[in-house]
Amino acid sequence: MIILGIETSCDESAASIIKVNKAKKEVKVLGSIISSQIKIHTKYGGVVPEVAAREHVFNLLPVIAKTLKKANLNFKDIDKIAVTNGPGLITSLISGVQTAKTLSYAFKKHLQVIDHINGHLYSPFIDNWKNIKFPAISLTVSGGHTNLILMLSETKTRIIGKTLDDAAGEAYDKAAKMMNLGYPGGPIISRLGQEFFDLNQEIEQKPLPRPMLNNKDFNFSFSGLKTALLYRLQKDSAWKKRIPEYCYLYQEAITEILVKKTLKATKTFNTKSILVSGGVSANKQLRQEFVKQSHKQGLQLFLSDLQYSTDNATMIAMASLFSKNSSKKDNWKSVKARTESDFK
Ligand code: KG4
Ligand code: ZN
Repeated sequence: MIILGIETSCDESAASIIKVNKAKKEVKVLGSIISSQIKIHTKYGGVVPEVAAREHVFNLLPVIAKTLKKANLNFKDIDKIAVTNGPGLITSLISGVQTAKTLSYAFKKHLQVIDHINGHLYSPFIDNWKNIKFPAISLTVSGGHTNLILMLSETKTRIIGKTLDDAAGEAYDKAAKMMNLGYPGGPIISRLGQEFFDLNQEIEQKPLPRPMLNNKDFNFSFSGLKTALLYRLQKDSAWKKRIPEYCYLYQEAITEILVKKTLKATKTFNTKSILVSGGVSANKQLRQEFVKQSHKQGLQLFLSDLQYSTDNATMIAMASLFSKNSSKKDNWKSVKARTESDFK
């Protein structure tokens, strides 16, 4: 089976074509292209929805055409189209969904809608499908979500914890904005924090708090951490000279919360594996800590490959193998992008 994935939930116009051998649980990526708009949004300090939608309209078809060319295929070879229909920026989602519907109608292809978070959830499966042992705990940690998911099998999944306020990636982005470091905040804070650590500099400031670290449940809260940083910066007249140290402390707090809560869940549910995905899973310190701790606990660890951590369309095509599928051939008629109220 050959699947075309399309992703436009935020500021990346992405397409990918995968070839699937279900019996062997093997996936081959025939072509994957991501056109990022980061440069455009950086000057605004975050994604501007209308600008993002215009860019998707401009970029998406050329990205799909290039992906087909890279895979050395044309539309007749595609068995189905999988497109992200939410959650995300509604104007961005509409551009991707409308493009997918049009292609589905014009080329008579089956269309499947995919939840973006499911895309992240299944991104570690791209390279490791046949090796993943269940039950597993998945930490899906992006700019919009921080979810702990219990996976009893590939398709039997249950959210056991999530953030009650900001997502971890959002906490990175907001902290970077507070310190005027640019967008997206995660990679910048991570780089500055790592440089501080590598230079073996002395830590002069107290650690930042770890909200909800020792709560009985598996929920997260990052808004208090962000506010704690804000108060520290306000009290410190020389904070601008200490930015790398604050980045180090901030990253350390987020990493500890994410790793400890995930490990606690593996013990409670007696799981065999840990899966980590989403934009924040590109974080070097988080990856290193998961490698260390999973080794200590004798657990299998599947980190999504760096190219599949942040938004991409390969994970959307991958998730289509495990998500609900409409059996109607001309199902494009009923497909639409989901708005906020659809999630309530
Ligand atoms: O999954 P993603 O690309 O988009 C969403 O679905 O939100 O995640 C983007 C988020 C941003 O908040 C970004 O700051 C964060 O992932 N991020 C990182 C790193 N790379 C991206 N956070 C920490 N360290 C990184 N290296
Ligand atoms: Zn994402």
